[in-house]
Amino acid sequence: MNVILKKPTFDELVFRQKLMLDEDTMSYNKAYGGTIEFPKENWANWYKHWILDDSKDYFYRYIFDKNINEFVGEISYRKDKQEDCYICSIIILHKYRNKGYGKKALTMLCDIAKQNGINSLFDNIALNNPSLSLFLKLGFKICYQNNEFTRVKIDLK
Ligand SMILES: CC(C)(COP(=O)(O)OP(=O)(O)OC[C@H]1O[C@@H](n2cnc3c(N)ncnc32)[C@H](O)[C@@H]1OP(=O)(O)O)[C@@H](O)C(=O)NCCC(=O)NCCS
Repeated sequence: MNVILKKPTFDELVFRQKLMLDEDTMSYNKAYGGTIEFPKENWANWYKHWILDDSKDYFYRYIFDKNINEFVGEISYRKDKQEDCYICSIIILHKYRNKGYGKKALTMLCDIAKQNGINSLFDNIALNNPSLSLFLKLGFKICYQNNEFTRVKIDLK
């Protein structure tokens, strides 16, 4: 494994489209509809918002393994303006799971967020999503729970 986080080119958004249409990959999102359409007509807006605007409030990268020359997933954080906090997100393509990509990429994201002056990252994880254990292994702590999700937080200072 030789992982880098890579800014996608516009045409490479086809990987994101495939990722979000893959049923196995998106089964964690079943309660909210599972797979998500990402049609080409939405790409320009999305790309401007997440990649071109270069705002401190949005960070998005593909997870790329140089050894196999493939994208294996996506990782991001964004500022939630209502709650005034940064929420992260990670999805590894189903066929590449349990190989250490999630752990590596989330560790890299935390380092980058810290370098970017962000004090803490949060994620909301559905109650039936076993990936909670990955976050806890990386030092995230449970800070809130309701009957839908567990909110985890890591301090980066
Ligand atoms: C969560 C996710 C990113 C993990 O990616 P991954 O590449 O399979 O994880 P890794 O191989 O790096 O696993 C790292 C550690 O977390 C643990 N872990 C990861 N996924 C797990 C799961 N579903 N259940 C239990 N443990 C899990 C692994 O056992 C491993 O532990 P170890 O370091 O002690 O061996 C991936 O399963 C995924 O994309 N899930 C769907 C999206 C999602 O749930 N995102 C996060 C919440 S929004």
